[in-house]
Amino acid sequence: MILLKDLEKNYEKYIDKDIEVAGWIKNSRFQKKLGFIELHDGTQFKPIQIVVDSNLANFEEVSKLHLSSAIIVNGKLVSTPNAKQKYEIQAKEIVVEGKSSDDYPLQKKRHTFEFLRTLLHLRSRTNTFNAVFKVRSELSYAIHKFFNERGFVYVHTPIITASDAEGAGEMFEVSTLDLNNLPKDKDGNVDFSEDFFGKKTNLTVSGQLQVESYAMSHRNVYTFGPTFRAENSNTPRHAAEFWMIEPEIAFAELEDVCNLAEDMVRYIIKYVLEKCPQEMEFFNKFIDKGLIERLEKVSNSDFKKMTYTEAIEVLEKADVKFDYPVKWGIDLQTEHERYLSEKIANGPVFITDYPKEIKAFYMKLNEDGKTVAATDLLVPGIGELIGGSEREYRYDVLLDKIKDAGLNPEDYSWYLDLRKYGTAKHGGYGLGFERMIMYLTGMTNIRDVIPFPRTVGHCEY
Ligand code: 4AD
Ligand code: MG
Repeated sequence: MILLKDLEKNYEKYIDKDIEVAGWIKNSRFQKKLGFIELHDGTQFKPIQIVVDSNLANFEEVSKLHLSSAIIVNGKLVSTPNAKQKYEIQAKEIVVEGKSSDDYPLQKKRHTFEFLRTLLHLRSRTNTFNAVFKVRSELSYAIHKFFNERGFVYVHTPIITASDAEGAGEMFEVSTLDLNNLPKDKDGNVDFSEDFFGKKTNLTVSGQLQVESYAMSHRNVYTFGPTFRAENSNTPRHAAEFWMIEPEIAFAELEDVCNLAEDMVRYIIKYVLEKCPQEMEFFNKFIDKGLIERLEKVSNSDFKKMTYTEAIEVLEKADVKFDYPVKWGIDLQTEHERYLSEKIANGPVFITDYPKEIKAFYMKLNEDGKTVAATDLLVPGIGELIGGSEREYRYDVLLDKIKDAGLNPEDYSWYLDLRKYGTAKHGGYGLGFERMIMYLTGMTNIRDVIPFPRTVGHCEY
């Protein structure tokens, strides 16, 4: 049996020879004595055409198969230089592995993405989702490859944690307590001493704090895993469960963090364009016209940079009216982020040095005492793709920042230790994996780039 991806590479070798392929019927047209099947085997985006004639022993049975039936085909590979596809198979034998029933919900017509979200177990069989999830897989590999080539150590940070890495309180609690009968202490508060871990724990919002500890032992490290946020943001860019890539580098400043992010984004774009040509052409044609050209340009250009303060000035002078009024100190909203990347930078742009009040406690305080050495990378169509910073590496300043944020220093004592035992300047960032897939494919809803999306009110399957 041969896989279609291998056949595509070497088809000349097999012309006029008998081969065996297996897959699912993507499309079929049958006349009385002749039929054509488009067979998809999952190993490449393009299907192969199978020509079936009435000499086939089970011609009748095959002609009645519904879409998505699984078959094994034996036949001769023939060259078809004048047709759309360079080759096809003239079937000699077709074994029906598994029939699809007549109520198969994905018919030949185009279905809306909303409808397909009700069929999460079947949608990967459609062209669009087949392509998205192939890109997702290649992108994941590209990211590991990028860091591995640069000598970064991959650290598996915990999924269940006792820390709130962002200090924002948007966490899913993990508990073995009976919700209907919670043990209480004498003040009426939930008594977590009876819980599995003997304390309150939650699903991680970010592996950053733990990965920072490894940056102090292995210097250049990263984590890449699932993260969870209980933010009540019902937008096309927020999921409750999403994957994040978080590198952390020691003896580094904000500029080094930005350079690493820029190198990574350019590298992974090039990688996916090279490894997924069929899928990317599909997106370019049907999902987002001009996508490939835009990505190629981004992968070969320097990213722009501006400070938050400059960004606010630009937004204040903007010729559009924003829903959310602009003034120094506001947290930039998606409308502002998109304006900056789409209208001003016309591509990716790093915004740096945000007001300390709107950023996390661990970011390094700048000399002005008002801003922190943080950066967000904004891109057209999406807004924030990456969020990162230089970390506060000075013990006393970090302690004050933890207190100012209303957090309990005791909960962060191990994190403070890192500033006690050989602290070094360091920094890193988090790339939202799903947002990167959206940027690469032109898909506009995060629910359509993760196999089983979890969003407010939705946890199917
Ligand atoms: O900006 P965020 O919150 O940064 C952190 O978590 C840091 N600890 C990262 C670090 O410095 N190591 O999140 C990083 C990125 C965002 O830029 C965004 O792309 C993505 O994660 N992200 C989400 N993606 C999907 N759904 C959500 N709810 C997301 N929240 C953040
Ligand atoms: Mg952020």
